[in-house]
Amino acid sequence: MTDAGVERRPEPVRVPGEAELAEAGLRLDVDGAVATVTLNRPERRNAMTFATWRGLAAIGRSLPSDVRVVVLKGEGPSFSAGIDLGMFSGGGEGFSDGADAEATDRFIAGLQEGYTWLRRPDIVTIAAVHGHAIGGGFQLALACDLRVAADDAKFCMKEPALGLVPDLTGTKPLVEIVGVPRALELCLTARTVLADEAARLGLAEIVVPRDGLDAAVADLVTALLAVNPGAAVATKRLLWQAPENTLEEQCAAERREQIGRLRELFGK
Ligand code: CAA
Repeated sequence: MTDAGVERRPEPVRVPGEAELAEAGLRLDVDGAVATVTLNRPERRNAMTFATWRGLAAIGRSLPSDVRVVVLKGEGPSFSAGIDLGMFSGGGEGFSDGADAEATDRFIAGLQEGYTWLRRPDIVTIAAVHGHAIGGGFQLALACDLRVAADDAKFCMKEPALGLVPDLTGTKPLVEIVGVPRALELCLTARTVLADEAARLGLAEIVVPRDGLDAAVADLVTALLAVNPGAAVATKRLLWQAPENTLEEQCAAERREQIGRLRELFGK
């Protein structure tokens, strides 16, 4: 913690270069307090490879410390068509040789790091979703704090239909948002949820016309940046722990965070 009660980030590691990110199907634009990560393989509907997920993890590790909001978006007609199905050719040996469960566990944990940083309290993350968000793409949207959807957005948890489980951190936020029965229904039918239903289920905070997506995201970013940075960090930390805490634990957490705020604001 700093004197002001704001969590200090570890020193950022090397920012991945433009070519390296392009190789992973990603683009990163940092403009002051806002970083925009673009899934950038439109000719493959932003299908993601292992390199994409490692690239996302590298972006998370290397974000400049003054970035407060991260926007994730997709180039072309879709947010993301999920895993690049080419990764399954050859019987999926890229995941596992079938013999070493521990190695596969470590391998998948490495891929999940591309998603987990999006919940860090020092940033607010927004998925700007248009077109398809399938499988790993849906999970990427779920990994963000907020989802702004275009009216053409289509969410689908396809994994069970392919014989897999959603393993890119998506099951927890999905259940947190829609509850177990609805999550079960969505996953086990692998049906597509359109934008209006997504808004009703809480899978999108806002639905806007497709041509208004960028403007809606920009407005949200402006509103988020208007809030005191320390209060934003502390409040995000507080809210994300609320579901796991008892009332007593949460009350104590509120007191702790407020003491930090009071110290920063009034020096006491
Ligand atoms: N992997 C690789 N290539 C893909 C792809 C994917 N997931 N999705 C689309 N593409 C490619 C297509 O093969 C096509 O290539 P060509 O031009 O060379 O033919 C190109 O992108 C455009 O695709 P479409 O012509 O199909 O575009 P569309 O707009 O008509 O349809 C779509 C878009 C609905 C996303 C459709 O492409 C589709 O259903 N894609 C597959 C989605 C899928 O099953 N993803 C896996 C989800 S499970 C997951 O993600 C698992 C996990 O994390 C572990």
